[in-house]
Amino acid sequence: MDSRTLIFNMKMYMDINDVRNYLTQLPKLPDNVIVCPEMMYIPYFLTKYSNISLQNIYSINEGAYTGEVSAQHAKKLGIDYTVIGHSERRIYFQEDDNMINAKIKTALDNDLKVILCIGEMLEDYEKGNTEEKIFSQIMDDLFDNNKFNQDNLIIAYEPVWAIGTGKVPTNEEISKTVKFIKQIILKQFGINIKVMYGGSVNSSNIESLNTIDNIDGFMVGGASTKVDEVNKMIKVVNG
Ligand code: PGA
Repeated sequence: MDSRTLIFNMKMYMDINDVRNYLTQLPKLPDNVIVCPEMMYIPYFLTKYSNISLQNIYSINEGAYTGEVSAQHAKKLGIDYTVIGHSERRIYFQEDDNMINAKIKTALDNDLKVILCIGEMLEDYEKGNTEEKIFSQIMDDLFDNNKFNQDNLIIAYEPVWAIGTGKVPTNEEISKTVKFIKQIILKQFGINIKVMYGGSVNSSNIESLNTIDNIDGFMVGGASTKVDEVNKMIKVVNG
């Protein structure tokens, strides 16, 4: 079995001193780790690591779009991945499925691999609507797109209520939803893709989460910015 993937979503947590310390203390990362730094630090991270991801892109390649970031320019810089549709983008920046759909197409047009985040809100979870919600996100986000395949699309299943809260679904719940996601993608698009779990993953719970047999890795937020947490998590996943 391939080793499972770890995606480090550093969000907007680190200042330049944190970045320097991190890169000094972790001069190398294994090949199965993808790092998503805050945008302006990417050139620093590129000096040490090869698997770098943006946290977001704009849906247009180039032009007068102050404050946005281009997939085309990212690829030329040596970036290979982008996260799209993170719940913080959906909630705080009003990104809807139409916008996410367009961003995915632009990323793939520019040869960036897409880490598509999907997941239900607490209300959906409590009403038992997780699968319904996830189904509609997948269908809308990937609508009318014949560019993705098993090598350029990863799905991160991140229940919104589990992000940054310390709350994690049970292993059975995660496994059931991951199976559901893989089944939809296979049935609708005829491909097998990698599905990660994300939401409050850290060095204390990753050992148990790692026993779930159908997941392909983890997307880690807060804990990915702490060197001791990172070392412990890599040890669990890579054995
Ligand atoms: P968290 O974030 O690990 O801090 O819960 C995960 C994510 O948002 O990707």
